[in-house]
Amino acid sequence: MLRVKKLNQFYGSSHCLKDISFDLRANTCMAILGLNGAGKSTLAKSLIGINPIAGGSIEISGTEISRMTSNQRVHLGLGYVPQGREIFSDLSVEENLRIGEPREDPGHHKISRSDIFQIFPVLKQMLHRRGGDLSGGQQQQLSIARALRTNPKILILDEPTEGIQPSIVHDIRTMISDLGGKFTIILIEQYIEFAREVCDDFIVLSRGAICASGPRKLLDAEIETRFLKV
Ligand SMILES: Nc1ncnc2c1ncn2[C@@H]1O[C@H](COP(=O)(O)OP(=O)(O)OP(=O)(O)O)[C@@H](O)[C@H]1O
Ligand SMILES: [Mg+2]
Repeated sequence: MLRVKKLNQFYGSSHCLKDISFDLRANTCMAILGLNGAGKSTLAKSLIGINPIAGGSIEISGTEISRMTSNQRVHLGLGYVPQGREIFSDLSVEENLRIGEPREDPGHHKISRSDIFQIFPVLKQMLHRRGGDLSGGQQQQLSIARALRTNPKILILDEPTEGIQPSIVHDIRTMISDLGGKFTIILIEQYIEFAREVCDDFIVLSRGAICASGPRKLLDAEIETRFLKV
């Protein structure tokens, strides 16, 4: 579904992504783990096209996307939920949800507006509130819903549980579990327990390079101690 080969990126002279390669199988969830500054968000931004890459390739179902605009990537089926939510504070919940225009894709499970309200009922109650008046957790739900509205095949979530109260973390976990099997998910996380509960495979980044990877069962205490503790 998504194939990344020898992806490299620089911020000026700083080599921030080093020969990143992985395959993401359709309808599975891959966790991308790593300490602060490891390069997780940089990788997400390279995938969605916010950061141009210096070398390597990114393919979705065999189509090379690394020279495409973000808009073209969304049309091909990439959905992106940025770290820190980045909803439009001055727009209503309804308007935020209208920004993601649904993509037509006959062969793909389609997510409707009512599906979204079933996943996050609070958004239906708050349709006319300003985005900026929502709590942090509600804004996170809105940011995820906005991305789901585009009907993505692959959803990239950048630290969706960061700074969120436990009840909403629970709702997000349920959403990922329910969508698993119908969508392909990249979950960037610092919270290893959460990743362990929902992922099929994982990658650990350290200083811009992959230092460990494998199926969920290998995401053990040793990996945690070696790579995920400060
Ligand atoms: N726009 C930028 N310009 C220059 N350096 C940057 C920029 N954005 C990030 N960096 C640097 O690149 C490295 C990777 O940052 P990145 O934001 O990808 O880390 P992260 O793994 O997402 O961390 P966190 O868990 O804190 O979100 C860090 O050293 C960071 O300081
Ligand atoms: Mg980050």
